[in-house]
Amino acid sequence: MLSTFLTGILATAALGASLTQVSNYNNNATSKAQMYIYVPDNVVTNPPLVVVLHSCQSSAQSYFTNNKIPWKQGSDKKGYITIWPSSPNSGTCWDVSSKQSLSHLGGGDSQAIASMILYALDHYKADASRVYVTGGSSGAMMSNVLAATHPELISAVSLYSGVPAGCFVSSSGGIAQWNNTCSGGQIKATADKWKQVVLDMYPGYTGARPKMQVWHGSVDSTLAPANYEETIKQWTGVFGVSQTATATKADTPQGGYTTSDYGSSVEGIYAQGVGHSVPANLTASEIWFGL
Ligand SMILES: *[C@@H]1O[C@H](CO)[C@@H](O)[C@H](O)[C@H]1NC(C)=O
Ligand SMILES: *[C@@H]1O[C@H](CO)[C@@H](O)[C@H](O)[C@H]1NC(C)=O
Ligand SMILES: *[C@@H]1O[C@H](CO)[C@@H](O)[C@H](O)[C@H]1NC(C)=O
Repeated sequence: MLSTFLTGILATAALGASLTQVSNYNNNATSKAQMYIYVPDNVVTNPPLVVVLHSCQSSAQSYFTNNKIPWKQGSDKKGYITIWPSSPNSGTCWDVSSKQSLSHLGGGDSQAIASMILYALDHYKADASRVYVTGGSSGAMMSNVLAATHPELISAVSLYSGVPAGCFVSSSGGIAQWNNTCSGGQIKATADKWKQVVLDMYPGYTGARPKMQVWHGSVDSTLAPANYEETIKQWTGVFGVSQTATATKADTPQGGYTTSDYGSSVEGIYAQGVGHSVPANLTASEIWFGL
């Protein structure tokens, strides 16, 4: 009995920090998105926060334990906190199609995630000026939506294989609906139009906006590569910079990838020959975040 008990204690101690659910995170939204958090054993004082958004058919737990998703390692190495929201929707895609989620404090998933950020800032004395968002696929779409709907909370975004904010609209107002026209790359607009889509999600907002790093693969057959160009148009439009890159680096950060900078707030990384979705590069995203 005693030895079982001691083994239990030792096992717990050896395992250290783990992914933990926060059941009551003062969620003001109607969305029932769940909050999970990982506070590493070596958490730094006034820690930065990274919000890691999973893809469809995934969850906070399975994304956290997926060894291709590097953010637990980053957290362990550098002492920042990671928040792992989990989608409440059937199929577990994030809601990037309803008016609620596509609006500032609109009651949808985006507001629930904003509530998680506020909870973590307060509860763990995290640094409000170093809140970052990343995600793949549906998580990348939500990264764009969060940047558009709750820009006041976020400093920088690094997203892998998404679509512009407001591209996956549901004509019937449905929650977490798939949109074939957008996924197929047929929704195209000018930078000015895409900018307006963003502005309309938080009317009257004039504060700072997160800088955006956008990754996409050239042979993505789930979210057509045209969505890369449209996303770049959207954020260059918002930042009021030219859609002609100010610097282009071939084979950066790796062979076959091209990095294009549009001023200092928008960066695109286009991965030649890569499908859906582009694997996360922890180092490159951390550099973008300044971590
Ligand atoms: C939630 O409600 C609290 C209390 O009214 C408010 O301070 C906070 O800004 C709200 N946050 C979000 C994300 O809705
Ligand atoms: C798909 O999204 C576009 C906006 O990008 C919207 O106009 C269209 O109605 C949506 N399609 C459906 C079936 O909801
Ligand atoms: C990730 O990016 C870093 C720095 O930007 C680069 O040095 C590294 O080679 C990249 N990793 C992979 C697997 O390409």
